Amino acid sequence: MQLAIESLGKRYPGRGWALSEFTLTLTPGVTGLLGPNGAGKSTLMRILATVTKPSAGRVLWNGADLARDPDSLRETLGYLPQDFGVYPQLSALEFLDYIAAAKGLEPHTARARIDQLLELVNLTDARHRALGGFSGGMRQRVGIAQALLNDPSVLIVDEPTAGLDPEERVRFRNLLGELSGERIVLLSTHIVSDVEATATRIVVMGQGLLLADATPEALLEQVASRVWELEVPASELDALRARHLVGATLRRGASVLVRLVADERPSAAARPASPTLEDAYLRLLREAQSSAAA
Ligand SMILES: Nc1ncnc2c1ncn2[C@@H]1O[C@H](COP(=O)(O)OP(=O)(O)O)[C@@H](O)[C@H]1O
Ligand SMILES: [Mg+2]
Repeated sequence: MQLAIESLGKRYPGRGWALSEFTLTLTPGVTGLLGPNGAGKSTLMRILATVTKPSAGRVLWNGADLARDPDSLRETLGYLPQDFGVYPQLSALEFLDYIAAAKGLEPHTARARIDQLLELVNLTDARHRALGGFSGGMRQRVGIAQALLNDPSVLIVDEPTAGLDPEERVRFRNLLGELSGERIVLLSTHIVSDVEATATRIVVMGQGLLLADATPEALLEQVASRVWELEVPASELDALRARHLVGATLRRGASVLVRLVADERPSAAARPASPTLEDAYLRLLREAQSSAAA
């Protein structure tokens, strides 16, 4: 089972390339698609979900070209778009019934599946309540349930944790982790911690380009011995930022505890710190910016 993305490109009228020369083969497991706003994550996902047509390249689902045969993927695809809209007057149950019918599920199977999914996303007790009164997290869980109605082999979820509070975020992450199994799961986010716990593979993109495709361990390896902690007077922070890639900062009275990524020890006072995926991600984005500027 594989979804092969070959030299994919998308150009919006008057906008240049939002996605270019993008090549990647997805296999079962959770792949985290990480990139800042505007990187092209949604564009890529919309093409994979056959909602948008690419301007260049192609996508092969188990060898079949989506341009010629979109139905073989559609039948087994679950997609949660970034701008997932619900009908506020419908209850969770009515909404899922409606989507199941739209997906052509046989009513008897649909009902059993809906009950199962409501249980999975922990909304059984809320199933008769109108979606308009749901919290962001509850709505996203309805979104995941609708994406899973046809027990998809390919599950594409676009920034599912945006707008969730920290507790809902954790719950949602755990839910996605439980779902992977034998599916291809592609999850986009601009927040590293969203994919840290669940993804076995991380794809980083920026400005429409693939910047990295690696395991979390391999990404960490890229910044091994390159992360430092340093306390500086607050007045020196700007100068430090000009010279180094500064990550998190923590105010401590008149000084600031700074985390930075640098190949060499930035100053005698700097202490080595253990690398995180966030450090690796920041470094990749910075390198991409420098090479784009050059
Ligand atoms: N329908 C569209 N028409 C024109 N430009 C678009 C459209 N959708 C996205 N873009 C542009 O393409 C780029 C990538 O957008 P998008 O795929 O939404 O990125 P991301 O999901 O990573 O934030 C952005 O510059 C965005 O403004
Ligand atoms: Mg997006």
